[in-house]
Amino acid sequence: MSSNLAIKLRTGTQKAHTAAENVGFTKCFVKGVVDRACFAKFLGNLYCVYSTLENALQTHSEHPLIKPLYFKQLNRQANLIQDLEFYYGKNWQNFISASPATQIYVDRVKAVAATEPVLLLGHAYTRYMGDLSGGQMFQKLAQSALKLVDYQGTSFYYFEHIPDKAAFKDQYRKALNALPVDDITADKIVKEANDSFQFNMMMAKDLDSYLIQAIGQELFNSLTNTQTPGSTELAHHSK
Ligand code: HEM
Repeated sequence: MSSNLAIKLRTGTQKAHTAAENVGFTKCFVKGVVDRACFAKFLGNLYCVYSTLENALQTHSEHPLIKPLYFKQLNRQANLIQDLEFYYGKNWQNFISASPATQIYVDRVKAVAATEPVLLLGHAYTRYMGDLSGGQMFQKLAQSALKLVDYQGTSFYYFEHIPDKAAFKDQYRKALNALPVDDITADKIVKEANDSFQFNMMMAKDLDSYLIQAIGQELFNSLTNTQTPGSTELAHHSK
C-alpha cells in the first residue's frame, strides 16, 4: 500500500512554505543580514522545540507508523547545545527561554505526543526536511554574516551523520510514501505539518522586534517589503 504521503506533504504545504519564506526575520537572513544576539535567541527557541520533539519521537520510536521515519542521525539536540555553549557559555541554560510562540509550539508537540503520536510526523517532516534543504543555505549565510569558523555556532545545520543530503531526503520521502496510513490519517498529518509551518512563522515573528532593534526599522523595512516567490512552488526545485 502506498500512501503517497511525501507527495501529499509537499503539495499540501507549498503555500505555507512560501509564507514562511516571507517572514521578516527569514527574509533578512536570506539577504545576509543576521544579528548575533538574535540568531542566538533563535537557536535557544529551536532548542526548546527540538528537545521536546526528539524526546517525543524517541518515546514513540517503536510505534509502527513512526518507526520507519525514526532516524537518529537527524537529531539536533546535541548540536544545538554545542551552539548555545558557543554563544552563552557553559551556563547557557540560564540564558535561554521559549518565546511566547515557541511555548505554544512546544505545547502542541507535547499534546500530539500524548494523544495522537502519529501526528508527530507532521512536525518532524516540517523541521528536518527544511533543515536539510533551505537550512543548508542558512548555515552559509550565518557563518559569513557572523564571521564564524567552520561549524562553530552553526552546528545546528551540520548533519555529520548525513553526508549525502539529497540521497537521505529521497530515502525519507520513500519511507513517507510507503507508510501504510489511510487517507484520513494522511490528511491529518498534512494539516499538522501546515500547523507546524505556522508555529515556525510565529516563532520567527517573535524575533522581529529584536532584529529591528539591532538593525533599525528602516533597513528592516527595505529588506522585507517585497514578496519572495516560494522555493517549493517553483517548477524545478529538487536538488
Ligand atoms: C527563505 C527560507 C527558505 C528557503 C530559501 C527554503 C528553501 C527550500 C528549498 C529550495 C527546498 C526544496 C529542496 C528539495 O526539494 O530538495 C525546500 C524544501 C523544504 N523546506 Fe524550505 N526553505 C526556506 C524556509 C523553510 C522553513 C522556515 C521551513 C519550515 C520550518 C521549511 C521547510 C521545508 C520543507 C519541509 C521542505 C521539503 C519540501 C518537500 O516535501 O520536498 N523551509 N526549502
